[in-house]
Amino acid sequence: MRTIGVLTSGGDAPGMNAAIRAVVRTGIANGLRVMGIQRGYSGLMNGEIFEMTRSSVSDIIQRGGTILKSARSAEFRTPEGRKKAYNVLKVFGIEGLVVIGGDGSFTGAKLLSDEWDIKTVGIPGTIDNDLAYTDYTIGFDTAVNTVLDAINKLRDTSTSHERVSVVEVMGRHCGDIALYAGLAGGAESIIIPEEDYNFDELCKTIIEGKVKGKLHNLILLAEGIGGAEELAKKIEEVTGIESRATVLGHIQRGGSPTAFDRILASRLGARAVELLLEGKSKRVVGIRDNKIVDYDITEALQMEKRRDDHKKLYELSKILGY
Ligand code: F6P
Repeated sequence: MRTIGVLTSGGDAPGMNAAIRAVVRTGIANGLRVMGIQRGYSGLMNGEIFEMTRSSVSDIIQRGGTILKSARSAEFRTPEGRKKAYNVLKVFGIEGLVVIGGDGSFTGAKLLSDEWDIKTVGIPGTIDNDLAYTDYTIGFDTAVNTVLDAINKLRDTSTSHERVSVVEVMGRHCGDIALYAGLAGGAESIIIPEEDYNFDELCKTIIEGKVKGKLHNLILLAEGIGGAEELAKKIEEVTGIESRATVLGHIQRGGSPTAFDRILASRLGARAVELLLEGKSKRVVGIRDNKIVDYDITEALQMEKRRDDHKKLYELSKILGY
């Protein structure tokens, strides 16, 4: 293998730049040419490709977003789109492709390798932490810390006004951002898609908290359940305690990556290139029990989250937040 390409696809995540840097520098250190592909699969189909050097990834490890830009492409989901992409890869002499993104991006990589002679490796880049085969995805830790910062501020004003504060966070169908930020932020309640919740119980907890002298009540709500405004309104109606909703939105996708995300991205980026050099294809890299691992894409996407760990964290948050 002489030439590889790297692209970022789907929703951006802090730490993607650190992963690009690791791919480029590990590739060059091993004698490869590394091509940067802009705007994900859509840029690939349009030939938005340029050669990267060690210095093209200077001064990016600390930056959020992705210097390669990101996109979601409907055309690439079709066989015609993937044929177009393959033709462009051929023209540029790219034999291996590193895809930094989430499950949709990995499925695209797998299909491309199924249909055409191109090797692919995926790196998990999404704030959602919704890929079961890896304990953490790049960007998750930064997003949790961003939410935590917001919670700290909301606590101040909620305490002053003795209010209930409902905070809606991202994560698509996964409740990890809400769970981790809620646990770290001392939330009274965490509402996530993975665990049942009962509205009456929630209101009872809020009222009991007030009676015990709690000055505020913080509720972390995963967007997979959604509707912070509606929930805050209902809580106020039932409990009689003033309630406010905050939807944190895309602020969770930005910012300088934490040390954890930078290190994870650096380790995964390097391993992805090693796999291509070993001639592997249709693999994804990840971290399990602090060890870098890799799996077949299909196998990885079929795995289920380790629910026991998740459940323990949820139970702990209930004991500590009550
Ligand atoms: O997958 C990352 C994510 O931020 C989700 O948490 C969220 O549901 C979605 O992307 C938002 O997508 P968009 O940026 O297209 O609005």
